[in-house]
This record gives sequence, C-alpha cells and structure tokens, in this order.
Amino acid sequence: MNTKAIIGAKVELPYSVEEAINRLRINVSFFGSDVRKIMIISSEPNEGKSFVAMSLWRQMALAGEKSILVDADMRKSVMVENYKIAREDGKELWGLSHYLSDNKKLIDCILSTDMPAGDLLPNVNNIINPSMLLESDRFAGLLNDLAAEYRYVFLDVPPLGLVSDAERVGHLCDGAILTVRSGVTPKGIIRSSVAQLERAGCPLLGIVLNRAGAGKGAYYHKYYGKYYGKYYGKKYYTDKYYAEKK
Ligand SMILES: Nc1ncnc2c1ncn2[C@@H]1O[C@H](COP(=O)(O)OP(=O)(O)OP(=O)(O)O)[C@@H](O)[C@H]1O
Ligand SMILES: [Mg+2]
Repeated sequence: MNTKAIIGAKVELPYSVEEAINRLRINVSFFGSDVRKIMIISSEPNEGKSFVAMSLWRQMALAGEKSILVDADMRKSVMVENYKIAREDGKELWGLSHYLSDNKKLIDCILSTDMPAGDLLPNVNNIINPSMLLESDRFAGLLNDLAAEYRYVFLDVPPLGLVSDAERVGHLCDGAILTVRSGVTPKGIIRSSVAQLERAGCPLLGIVLNRAGAGKGAYYHKYYGKYYGKYYGKKYYTDKYYAEKK
C-alpha cells in the first residue's frame, strides 16, 4: 500500500479553464492505448508545464483513468512546495531523486491521493545535474514499470531550451504535449523545440496554448489552454493511424 498524501493547496480552476483541460483530457484519450508515457514540455521556463501536467493528471484521475504524475524536473521541482504536499503519516517525504540515487523502494516514494485513480511521484530533493540519473537503466525501467501499472504516466520536466533533460526523458516517452505561452514564445523557438523532440524520437502529440491573453484581462481565461492536438494526434498516434499503417 502506498502512503497517502495530504495536498494542502486547493486546486480550484475557473469553469472555462476546467473545460479547456477537460477537452485536452478527451483529446489525449483519443491517442490510443499505446500512448501511455506522456511528457509535458515547453521551450522556455514559465510557460505553464507544471500547471498543465498537474491539471491534466487530476482530470484524468477524476475521470477514473489510473494515472500517475511524475515530477521529473529534478533541477527545480516546485510541486511539493506549490501544492503543499506531505505524507499523511507525517514521515519524511521521498521522491524521484531518492528512488533513482538512494535506492529507495518505489512503494516508499509513490503517494496515493484522495482520488482513487490518481497517484503522485513527487521530487523532494533538487539535484544540480540529474543527467546521469535520467540516462540510467533504473529510470527507463521505472517508466516501463509505471506504464504497465498506470494507464497514463504524465511527466513534468525542465524546459527544452535550457538543459537536455527533456530530450532524455522524451526519448523514453510515447509522446509529448508542448506547452506554449500565447503571444510570448517566439515562433522560431517553437520550431526548434519541435525539431528537438523529433531528434529525441518523441512524437509531438499536440500543443497547448497557455496563458493566452495574460495581462489583457478579458481573454485571460477564455483562450486559456487551447489545444491543437488534432493534426498531430491523427498523424502520429491514433488507432486509425496504426490501422492505416498496417
Ligand atoms: N493558465 C494559467 N493561468 C494563470 N496562471 C498560470 C497559468 N499557467 C501557469 N500559470 C502560472 O504561471 C507560473 C508558471 O507556471 P508553471 O510553474 O506551471 O510553469 P513551468 O513551465 O512549469 O515553469 P518552469 O519552467 O519554471 O518549470 C505559475 O505561477 C503558474 O501558477
Ligand atoms: Mg515547472
């Protein structure tokens, strides 16, 4: 039995945001049963990866799909702090870096939550250079074990533009959702992120246009979280695509 987490911060999103995430969840469910390990990525810092990853995981779990959110941003994890996560039994919290570097048992690092279908693998200790850990067989094995146990494994990672962690993680994933900060992320940078994912052999499942209209008030929530998954979904990763390929 996994230890239960207390999540101190309440996650309450405006209706329109809930709706946008809900559409994203539905689109993700169309990718087909081979798409299980999904990395949430962005080109630059602060585009909303962690927010989208947490919200998508939550909605998927609420919909009854067994899902785990893995905080694979071991350089600058914010999940535990932002959401005020603690163990219900009051013991010390362990996470991904403990599992990978201290040989802790997985069962001692994964947390269950109030959602029967939603588990968390947080990261507690940030480390300066997690590259070797992300390249280790232990990490690849972990992702495969999780994908066998959970319908969806969502991975929150550092941005593509800064360090190569995301390429390492993406190489092991079935696809990536690219978070783009509307009106802020330059097109050229988005293009180079798409190329980076391609080089890493990680199919781009779709693009989330996040934080649209931020600062302009009126459109802030309206366009938040627009999802452009159709084209990529059809092209790469639907059952129909596989059927056509055969
Ligand atoms: N749609 C949104 N509406 C309002 N605020 C948002 C939205 N998405 C993200 N934010 C806020 O923007 C900030 C950055 O979001 P988040 O931490 O999810 O980005 P990130 O891409 O994970 O950043 P990093 O690259 O540092 O990991 C946070 O304060 C978050 O609450
Ligand atoms: Mg983040």
